[in-house]
Amino acid sequence: MAGRFTNVDEFIKFTDELVEKAKSPNTYFSVCGGTGCIANNSNGVLAALKEELDKAGITDVEVKNTGCPGFCEQGPLVSIIPQGWLYTKVKVDDVPEIVSESIQNGNVVKRLTYEDPGSGDKIANSEEVPFYNKQTRILLANQEKIDPTRIEDYIAIGGYRALIKALTQMKPEEIVSEVSESTVTLLFQLASPLSQITEPLSGPLQVNDTRLTLLKLAPLAVSV
Ligand code: FES
Repeated sequence: MAGRFTNVDEFIKFTDELVEKAKSPNTYFSVCGGTGCIANNSNGVLAALKEELDKAGITDVEVKNTGCPGFCEQGPLVSIIPQGWLYTKVKVDDVPEIVSESIQNGNVVKRLTYEDPGSGDKIANSEEVPFYNKQTRILLANQEKIDPTRIEDYIAIGGYRALIKALTQMKPEEIVSEVSESTVTLLFQLASPLSQITEPLSGPLQVNDTRLTLLKLAPLAVSV
C-alpha cells in the first residue's frame, strides 16, 4: 500500500497484516545502531551486509539498524533473527563469511560468538549469554524488532493500538479524560492540547473530524 490512510478501517487492516506477518518473520539481521557500536563502525557493517546480500542475490533477508541492546563492550553487535544468534565485535571483513555461512548455509560462525571469560565456552544464542540470561527485558523487549526509521516495525508489535481504541471505541469525553489523567498530558499540551477541544464530538469518524487532532501526535498518515 502506498499513500495515506483515509479512514481507521484501512489502518486496522494494515496493522493486522503487519502483526500477523511478524509472528513468523523471515530471517533478518539486527545491527546495533547505538553510540558505542557506531563508534566501532557498525554503520560500515550495516552497509556491508546490505551490499553482500545484494551481491549474493538474496532479497528476502532484511537488515535492520536497531537500538542498543546494552552489551556495548562487545560491539558492534549483529544478531540474526529468528535464530537468535549473536555475533560480537563484528568487522566489515567478517560480513562475507556471515552471509555465506549463516544465511546461505545456515551455520553459526563460531569465532564471532561470545566467549564466556570464565569457562572459555563459545555461546551462539543471545539468550544463553550470561549478560542476558538473568535479565527480563521490559522496555527493551522489542529492541531487536524495531528499526526506528521504519514505522511499520512499531505497528507490527502493536503500536498505535491505543489510538485505534480511542478512535473506534471511546467517546470524545472519555478520550479527553483519559489524556487529562494520564502521564502523557504534558506531551499533548506541548503538541496540541486536547483539553482545549471544545466543540461536540460524536458520530462516525469523518475526515477532518476533530478527533483526528490525535493524528498530529501519531503519524498515522504515513507513506507505506
Ligand atoms: S551501542 Fe551497541 S550494544 Fe550498546
